[in-house]
Amino acid sequence: MREIKIFSPATVANISCGFDILGLCLDTVGDEMVVREVAEKGVKITHIIGQELPFETKNNVAGVAALALLENIETSVGFEIEIYKNIKPGSGIGSSAASAAGAVFAINELLGRPFSANELISFAMQGEKLASGSAHADNVSPALLGGFTLVRSYEPLEVLKIDAPKELYVTIIHPQIELKTSASRAVLKNQVPLNKMVKQMGNFGGLISGLYTSNYDLISRSLHDEIIEPNRSVLIPEFNQVKKSALNAGALGAGISGSGPSIFALCRGKDIATKVGGVMSEIYDKTHIEYDIHVSKINQQGIRVLEENK
Ligand code: HSE
Repeated sequence: MREIKIFSPATVANISCGFDILGLCLDTVGDEMVVREVAEKGVKITHIIGQELPFETKNNVAGVAALALLENIETSVGFEIEIYKNIKPGSGIGSSAASAAGAVFAINELLGRPFSANELISFAMQGEKLASGSAHADNVSPALLGGFTLVRSYEPLEVLKIDAPKELYVTIIHPQIELKTSASRAVLKNQVPLNKMVKQMGNFGGLISGLYTSNYDLISRSLHDEIIEPNRSVLIPEFNQVKKSALNAGALGAGISGSGPSIFALCRGKDIATKVGGVMSEIYDKTHIEYDIHVSKINQQGIRVLEENK
């Protein structure tokens, strides 16, 4: 039986000034999945370990993404999917994206790679649509491509990969409360004042330039969110305190990871990233809320194959 086992990483979307278009890939936290070719056509979710999630293919983000792929190719076989979840749904570090991207990546490998990365992103986005009501690509893109990714355009879909500066690390605090992306999108305003748009565009351009030139000071000056963070941060306990402490401890910048409740900080080097994790913990230790801390370098590769039997 042909099968493949993969690691499908967690991701950070938005990165302060890039709402719905910017993302990065983590290295130390992610799900594992096994995808197997079977004689019976269609897609079956056979195991979900670690979280309570729907087994019905059409209600499961991995299932929906896999079906979107299979609608675009003639095959005489079907696929079984096993999902070993380490990323909690509603965590803000791309739980649904890891499942959706992992499913399409693995099936594409088993079929001999008929689809391009951009095509896989568009199939995986169907899983995101099921999960949150919006087919955003800023988590599935870095999961599939690695590094930083920029969605230059949604229609037509065009995603650029940006290699991460070598010393860049990410620290994440994940409070153990669930914040659904749909709820976190519901608090956003549909209109942006012109002066805020000007500031956001300046910061966005600065961040991209800083990433390309490994200019850590420019990255630091650019990590601000004038538009989304003010509305969403009230949903996250101790957000302002965590952000302030991370900056005081030497982080280049900090903000909401995706739609929250996780909070991320970008740091230059592992030592500072670890120190930032320590000060984030101190703040949450004073609350009754449990949390996880992740310190990770940027994963330049994205999803990786752990075992294959092709
Ligand atoms: N860009 C999306 C949002 C990411 O902020 O709603 C969700 O993880």
